Amino acid sequence: MKVLVTGGAGYIGSHTLLQLLRERHDAMVFDNFSNSSPEALKRVKQLANADFEICEGDIQDACRLNEAFGDFKPEVVIHFAGLKAVGESNEKPIEYYAQNVSGSIELLKAMQRHDCRHIVFSSSATVYGEAEYLPYDEDHPLRPTNPYGRTKYFIEEIIRDWVASWRHASAVLLRYFNPVGADASGRIGEDPNGIPNNLVPYIAQVAVGRLQHLNVFGADYDTRDGTGERDYIHVEDLARAHLAAIQFEPTKSGCEAINIGTGRSTTVLEMVKAFEQASGRAVPYQIEPRRDGDVAHSLAAVGKAERLLGWQAKLDVDDMCRTTWDWQSENPSGYSPD
Ligand code: NAD
Ligand code: WQD
Repeated sequence: MKVLVTGGAGYIGSHTLLQLLRERHDAMVFDNFSNSSPEALKRVKQLANADFEICEGDIQDACRLNEAFGDFKPEVVIHFAGLKAVGESNEKPIEYYAQNVSGSIELLKAMQRHDCRHIVFSSSATVYGEAEYLPYDEDHPLRPTNPYGRTKYFIEEIIRDWVASWRHASAVLLRYFNPVGADASGRIGEDPNGIPNNLVPYIAQVAVGRLQHLNVFGADYDTRDGTGERDYIHVEDLARAHLAAIQFEPTKSGCEAINIGTGRSTTVLEMVKAFEQASGRAVPYQIEPRRDGDVAHSLAAVGKAERLLGWQAKLDVDDMCRTTWDWQSENPSGYSPD
């Protein structure tokens, strides 16, 4: 298929792009490189031994989108582009609404103008908010608790209305849980700017010696060992879910929201231990107060992904730690020259 990948140079986009190329799809990446490096695309090209097109542009720029759609004529869009830091979204909500929500509206307009009928959207488990019950299934109420999460919720609703209004259109809203890990080659991986907000990149930087110790945010939760439990999903499994989603034809409403997780949870301290084992390095940590906005548990119901996409996660926490370590130890400064 001809696949336009917005945000294709980013963490999840680059891993998905690699699988698309390996499966012989034609791809164009549309990215403004605001949170990524062209080096990631160079490496994907080498790993896949296949070429693809690159259009540097912002999804808020209707002219640039028109050029990309006109030149490439995609059959489907995988839409990763957007801002994703929860804390930053509290400080700059309008920037988040502009880039994520307005950008997605421009993208949907361009799709319709160019008769491109299917979209796979990067949503997030963050749309659920505080759990009324666990595991979260796709019918759980949606009450996001921060501007970033609300952008995902609004985009989901906008896509639903767009699909309802155009009988040719269809959409899959993938609600990712906690994506971690890297490609088995160790050549591409997550390369956060500055000090990482997320657990696994932070642990990796402690293990490689860039940071001194991990701050564990809360050890007094009602969980197995008092630290937060999350459903971590390997980025390679996540990428595979996108390949299933581009082929999927939602029949009933034309739009389906689908959780992408493993259905298993890991605590912060269990992750530290698994990472120490995978890397052979010590990960010193200090218990700190809870982080504002954090919940104790998160866990995905995974039955719908199995039923509709025929997809399930194959990789476990050891794979997540091993591949993260291979990437981090071989690229201690990420894509920047050391
Ligand atoms: P990322 O920041 O690594 O990738 C996003 C890419 O989009 C980057 O290459 C960036 O340069 C590009 N981009 C950002 N704004 C753009 C714009 N206005 N126009 C064009 N390109 C733009 O993030 P990621 O971790 O790969 O996440 C991809 C998507 O998945 C995001 O939409 C994110 O919200 C969503 N998501 C991520 C996680 C996670 O924990 N990583 C979890 C759930 C959902
Ligand atoms: C995991 C656990 C922390 C860092 C976030 C976003 C969510 C989604 C995925 C995009 C928690 C603990 C963390 C650290 C720690 N992104 N922790 N020390 O918060 O579940 O989800 O990323 O959609 O929207 O909110 O992930 O990796 O930040 O935290 O103790 O330095 O690790 O308290 O229990 P989170 P995370």
